Amino acid sequence: MPPLMKNPALILFLLLLNLACQTAPEIEFESSQSEKFRPIYHFTPPSGWMNDPNGMVFYENNYHLFYQHFPDSTIWGPMHWGHAISDNLIEWKHQPIAINPDTLGYIFSGSAVVDAGNSSGLGTEENPPLVAIYTYHDMESEQSGDSDYQSQAIAYSLDQGKTWEKYAQNPVLPNPGIRDFRDPKVRPWTLSNGQTGWLMTLAVSDRIQFYSSANLLEWKLESEFGQNQGAHGGVWECPDLIPMIAPDGSKKWILLVSINPGGPQKGSATQYFIGDFLEGKFSPDDQLIRWLDYGPDNYAGVTWSNVSNRHLFIGWMSNWLYAQVVPTEKWRSAMTIPRELSLFEVDGTLLVKSAPAAEITQLRTSSFELDDFESNLPSEAVEISAEIEKEETFSILLENDLGEKVLITRDNGLVSVDRSLAGNSDFHPDFAAVHSAPMSWEAKTVRLFLDASSLELFINDGEVVLTSTLFPTEPWKKIRFSENLAKIKIHNLTEKK
Ligand code: FRU
Repeated sequence: MPPLMKNPALILFLLLLNLACQTAPEIEFESSQSEKFRPIYHFTPPSGWMNDPNGMVFYENNYHLFYQHFPDSTIWGPMHWGHAISDNLIEWKHQPIAINPDTLGYIFSGSAVVDAGNSSGLGTEENPPLVAIYTYHDMESEQSGDSDYQSQAIAYSLDQGKTWEKYAQNPVLPNPGIRDFRDPKVRPWTLSNGQTGWLMTLAVSDRIQFYSSANLLEWKLESEFGQNQGAHGGVWECPDLIPMIAPDGSKKWILLVSINPGGPQKGSATQYFIGDFLEGKFSPDDQLIRWLDYGPDNYAGVTWSNVSNRHLFIGWMSNWLYAQVVPTEKWRSAMTIPRELSLFEVDGTLLVKSAPAAEITQLRTSSFELDDFESNLPSEAVEISAEIEKEETFSILLENDLGEKVLITRDNGLVSVDRSLAGNSDFHPDFAAVHSAPMSWEAKTVRLFLDASSLELFINDGEVVLTSTLFPTEPWKKIRFSENLAKIKIHNLTEKK
């Protein structure tokens, strides 16, 4: 026995100290990481570069997720459409690359629809085609100083998205002489003659143009939107036009528009407009600038097509400011968790809420409720949920053994995520920063999703959202909560079912 242990008072003191330390549950940290920073439950490409989600469509029990992909490098390059499928939005199966670049150019962002009535004639009524509408970006033409190097084109699949054929007469919408002319998002639409057709929402410089078509092959300009509306700190990209029902039962149209740069946290971000869409024309209800997510890392997100009654969204969890220099090795970038968009009202103003898609709870493998305000974390992949007891400041602090930390606070009408001391940040001068969202109304619940290199914060189930990437030198091991948080639960999301 070491000499110190002969002192009974010291033994008692050590016993008491030991008891005091047991208030936090004894948790073994479980690391299932083979690759540093690789998320466990977020979608990432097998290797190489990824940016925007593309062509999201639900068909025959599968959610399809295509994405901007350069398989040969971890920096942006000749764009392909990578492909994955899932029947539950959370477990993804990688598929072969769906669309490869060719002599007409790189394959930029776009959308996909089920052409159920075979309006395009590219399939048959018995076997309707899946049609992808994307932008060709002709790199040589751009480099030679032309301005008409982007055009819209289509590809189709007759085997549920497994293989894709490019339309022989591409492009279907040639460039009218405008440098930024891209990212078509197509949805079903009733044409002015009452027939069922299609509507394309297209990003054109810092404007949106709407085009209509009866057959996905010939397009007619309906209108343009954007002058003196919204934020214009950069080019507009990746739009989406979504019909939604407001809490008072009225029908509204939501126009998502990503912008780069010019976001509220520097770099890229997604703004949205709420209004009416009548006779091919979008009219906003007001002049407010609204942001879908106040974190720095949610860009170019759009919704799945061919899903009834839900607006399922996924975004690229990065920011063009530093996307190409973040410290991952074999791959770059993840998608956000899937989210469900809806409208809510606060003090007479309509806003879009982004709730975690309900499917996400299927990831929980074990859960425990804390009886204290601090805990060790069981793994790098967790969800934390809590209720906010009183309308006042709250805080949540994440730490690792190296003293790196992230602080989440609600104070003075702002919800903030401080990642200024969160580990690796020297790859870009703007990475280490505090990001805040305005919130003037009552905060009742908090949900936090942590995965190796990300943090997604949802207040009131998505009324306020901040999405941030983080690159801690070692995983987060400890979490501390302010004492006005109640029913604090930690859900382990490590092993997929
Ligand atoms: C948005 C974006 C799109 C474009 C794609 C190119 O992040 O710039 O406008 O189609 O990425 O990869």
